[in-house]
Amino acid sequence: MENKVYKIAILASGAGSNAKNLILDSRKDSNKVYKVELVITNNKDAGVINICHQLGVPCFLWKKDSFLSPDFLINSLKNNSIDYIILAGFLLKISDKIIENFPKKIINIHPSLLPKYGGNGMYGNKVHQAVLDNKEKESGITIHFVNEHYDEGEIISQKKISLNELETINSLRERINILEHEEFPKTLRLIFK
Ligand code: GRF
Repeated sequence: MENKVYKIAILASGAGSNAKNLILDSRKDSNKVYKVELVITNNKDAGVINICHQLGVPCFLWKKDSFLSPDFLINSLKNNSIDYIILAGFLLKISDKIIENFPKKIINIHPSLLPKYGGNGMYGNKVHQAVLDNKEKESGITIHFVNEHYDEGEIISQKKISLNELETINSLRERINILEHEEFPKTLRLIFK
């Protein structure tokens, strides 16, 4: 019997390096585990749009309202037989209705060791700056299921890095980005097995 190929939709608001990494990872082996069926963004200037054009993945721009009253969005995802929704730098809140329709099927990556440095407004450099301001000895990434509260869903995996005394916001962001690219596809592949 052939393996199931999980269909994923990626939601992204920004540069899209994680989306790109997942698209490329999903195409690696002949025995496919998952496929990035489509990408949705809420930001017309998001870098992820160009990435999708280059890689030939359908990318849709949906306004904020579509996420607040999400019936049409939910139907579109279901009509495309989407198994998992992956948030890769998606800044809008996922409404309860979307969560109810995809129980334990929405996964987020966050650039800190949750529960530290999570919640509304904690994204990108704000996270890394807070880590440095508090003179933390370590930081890392968290991959977790999404629930109705920002960054509070059940944790699937975490990876740590030690910070050195010369750490800057740029070095920290870069190290976290590399870690995300290594770990996100690995963790998703384990879930899809
Ligand atoms: C990543 O750091 C991710 O953890 C966070 O948003 C960032 C997205 O980066 N949720 P990119 O757009 O994938 O480059």
